[in-house]
Amino acid sequence: MTNLPQELLAFGKKVLLVYGGGSIKKNGLYDEIVSLMKAADIELFELSGVEPNPRHSTVNKGAAICKSEEIDVRLAAGGGSTIDCAKGIAAAALTEDGDVWPLVSGGVWVTRALPVVAILTNAATGSEMDAWAVISNMDTNEKIGLGGSALIPRAAFENPEYSFSLPAYQTACGAFDIFNHVLDNYYLAGDATFDLLLEMQEAVMRTVVKWTPVAMKEPENYEARANLMWASSMALNTVLDGGTVHGCACHMMEHELSAYYDITHGHGLAILTPRWLSYILDDETAPAIYRLGTNVFGVEKGFAAMEGAKKAIEAVSAFCFETLGLKSTLSDLQIDKSHFKAMAEHACVGGSISGPKELTPDDVEKIYEMCL
Ligand code: NZQ
Ligand code: ZN
Repeated sequence: MTNLPQELLAFGKKVLLVYGGGSIKKNGLYDEIVSLMKAADIELFELSGVEPNPRHSTVNKGAAICKSEEIDVRLAAGGGSTIDCAKGIAAAALTEDGDVWPLVSGGVWVTRALPVVAILTNAATGSEMDAWAVISNMDTNEKIGLGGSALIPRAAFENPEYSFSLPAYQTACGAFDIFNHVLDNYYLAGDATFDLLLEMQEAVMRTVVKWTPVAMKEPENYEARANLMWASSMALNTVLDGGTVHGCACHMMEHELSAYYDITHGHGLAILTPRWLSYILDDETAPAIYRLGTNVFGVEKGFAAMEGAKKAIEAVSAFCFETLGLKSTLSDLQIDKSHFKAMAEHACVGGSISGPKELTPDDVEKIYEMCL
């Protein structure tokens, strides 16, 4: 962190510190940042209270500060929500009215944005090293990704110690998010079949399976936190997708759950993933799902593909609901079927979700029902 001021000063002396509900005050990171800024004579402004599942209204507040104070660089200190909020601010502050929502809802690919520097405190979303910001509008029950090369943080600080204070539940949810970023791009999609890529994807998923329970039991285990943090960044910085475009089925379905019910992203993914795998299981997908089981969860080799694939799905379920201890149904999260139809339509963005099996709104609705 000693070179944080140097990274910021490359853009100017006025910094907007963006953070969430106060975890950085409790774990000492806030004090550390403030004292580094003072020593470097950097003028610090603040936007606090960024919500998990950050709201467009909070992004707009930050954009207004950037405009009125002519801020040079946004410093996000937190998890994916905080970093995403700072990215949204960076894009919105360059628009005439400082409103991020037209960019988000219009699907604009952001090629111009002000600089963002990130300090990561939660291994999860990959936002620290990717081109995406996921913003929610709770008035309209919409949660949408804003993308663009200009949104990639200009620098990211990843000190595993900043995640020591993360509670076990958030550790579990963040870790499953990492796992699913890889799975959503795994060769199940059928177009990324070269071996090096598969091995790298499996290595990241194995890392999550191995180190998450350790980090949950021993929150200050440096090796566990370091492995998870690096896995977070690797999972979504495009290294592992081999340049292919996938439908990201579980993510498309989950964003609707958080948009309607404001649940924790990784938890929604954990409930959906084993059901999605069961739904798409057939003779064509079975070998790939079985490979996931053997290479990531140590399922025995030698079964017929269909039987092996079923064992793999059982292993995914056991990881989510036994090892990570996450509640296993949507009903457990007080979610019923009342919005499933609308959510399924939204998840398919007016068409269908591509992937190993194309999903129509009808399919998505059935998968939601399997999660009840
Ligand atoms: O708000 P604070 O007080 O910081 O507390 C947070 C929050 O309550 C807490 N936390 C974070 N680091 C901590 C800590 N508590 C103690 N010690 C620490 N070191 O954890 C809670 C959750 O934080 P949040 O930032 O919401 O979690 P996460 O990193 O999982 O981010 C989730 C958001 O990112 C989006 C999700 O949809 C969701 O909105 N995503 C962003 C992506 C991207 N930019 O590429 C891709 C993902 O698929 C995902 O959609
Ligand atoms: Zn995710």
